[in-house]
Amino acid sequence: MKELIVRGCIIMSGSNKTLFVIFGGTGDLTYKKLVPAFYDLYVLNQVEPKDLEVVIIGRRDYTNETYRETYEETLFKHVRFKNRDEAHIQGFRELISYYKMDFHEPDHYFGLRDYLLERGNRALFYLAVAPHSFEEITESLKTSGITAAMTDKQLLIEKPFGDDLESAIEVDKAIKKCFKESEIYRIDHYLAKEMMLNILTIRFGNMTFERLWDKDSIESIQVSALEEGGVNDRGNYYDITGALEDMFQSHLLQMLSYVLMDRPKSMQPKHLHRAQERALRRLKPPKLENFNSEFVLGQYVSNGEVNSYVDETHVKADSKTETFFAMKLTSSDKRFKDVPIYVRSGKRMKEQSTYIAITFKPVIGINGKEHDRNVLIIRIGPDEGIYFKVNIKRPGNFDETQTVSMDFCQSCIYENRLNTPQAYERLISHALKKDRTLFASWPIVTKSWELTEQLQSLVKESNNQIIPYTAFENGPKESKSLIKTNGHEWVNDEVLGQTFNGQ
Ligand SMILES: NC(=O)c1ccc[n+]([C@@H]2O[C@H](COP(=O)([O-])OP(=O)(O)OC[C@H]3O[C@@H](n4cnc5c(N)ncnc54)[C@H](OP(=O)(O)O)[C@@H]3O)[C@@H](O)[C@H]2O)c1
Repeated sequence: MKELIVRGCIIMSGSNKTLFVIFGGTGDLTYKKLVPAFYDLYVLNQVEPKDLEVVIIGRRDYTNETYRETYEETLFKHVRFKNRDEAHIQGFRELISYYKMDFHEPDHYFGLRDYLLERGNRALFYLAVAPHSFEEITESLKTSGITAAMTDKQLLIEKPFGDDLESAIEVDKAIKKCFKESEIYRIDHYLAKEMMLNILTIRFGNMTFERLWDKDSIESIQVSALEEGGVNDRGNYYDITGALEDMFQSHLLQMLSYVLMDRPKSMQPKHLHRAQERALRRLKPPKLENFNSEFVLGQYVSNGEVNSYVDETHVKADSKTETFFAMKLTSSDKRFKDVPIYVRSGKRMKEQSTYIAITFKPVIGINGKEHDRNVLIIRIGPDEGIYFKVNIKRPGNFDETQTVSMDFCQSCIYENRLNTPQAYERLISHALKKDRTLFASWPIVTKSWELTEQLQSLVKESNNQIIPYTAFENGPKESKSLIKTNGHEWVNDEVLGQTFNGQ
């Protein structure tokens, strides 16, 4: 037992385990992502109950035992290692404990302080709660003496970071009263996805792509995140957020930063984050005079089988929230001068697919004809892989060509799926090692909000209207015209299907 004095009180500190403390421990995110990630890390022997305790915080009346029973009901739906092994299940139980408290009650933190200090003095606080509670929780962690009592502390926060730039700055100021920037880990789980990391290897690990990654060779860039699902039970959250804030402000801009950034000096967080920040600073929205032809917002309506957006639970009947956007951006980086960057995302799309497509400029072949464009597609999810379209001679006649695809579906191979950590597994293990590479820096977050707000102001100034689109039809027809004006088209599902299905 060690004696610690915190704000004049003597506190006994017992074992020296690392404590991973989850606020919002009875929420969806914890059950679907965090507990399963810890289970997979446990199976891999990367976390052990003698060194680590995951302290789940919630208001509900659970004991350790009953909480463990609740996560076990769904655990195997979400874990990577799906073989039920009784020894693993039992051993993993030792890692998880439950602590009941109301995080709105400052007094409850004193009990939490004693509970934590009996167990260890390194803590990672994970806020899986709405962002408007970040300030309250971090302040109470400080005033109760918890943060001072910990010799080592980290704070992990989930997106969204604020509701707009102003509130993000406020939240940031508030949490920095209790945690240093170096102790703050901002989560955007896209940054930890296997194929996001692969973008860097594909770009910088291949002479062909590294040399051709500029305006001289690239004709257009496309980033799409399409979801088949609607808003499900997230109507409350989604109706005040919308597609732009839910997807563009975070995941889409993270993807774009990897596609557009200069080669970082190294994969150290400071180098990687600086390269991402520079790429985002150079990203430009459409000009006001072109705005309505280069920016489209949509909202899904029923196709007869599923609800219209406005009929979803917790959505206002006259809601003007967008469930789809498509836009043409540019970069002020001379490397990408005049290269159109098309970005879209939506709900109730025809297919579920997140991908990046790089279309290269056409060349005139030795037969004097313009050949089909080479296209590189990086599939981020749900299937993960890489596809490259090339021209070859058609068997027979000398001057006829055909286009073939080289494709690799990484996630179609069982061993690959089994050997690929899930995003949250990677995030947790990086945070435990204090590696901030896969977390968003504060300048990235602020720049992302600035860009989103620029677009939102342009929407108002240009009187851009939300266009209805039928569910499962990939957005309004105006999003097709947006890209067709320049002679381009969205990568269609035939190409995606041809690439990744049936392997
Ligand atoms: N779900 C996802 O997949 C996902 C993905 C990315 C980001 N996020 C973000 O992560 C955050 C959490 O999401 P979620 O879906 O897990 O939310 P959720 O299902 O609504 O869970 C909220 C949690 O907060 C707890 N809570 C609320 N008020 C409390 C209080 N006063 N004292 C103690 N606990 C309290 C609830 O505990 P009780 O059991 O006591 O109600 C519950 O555990 C949100 O900001 C969301 O935007 C979620």
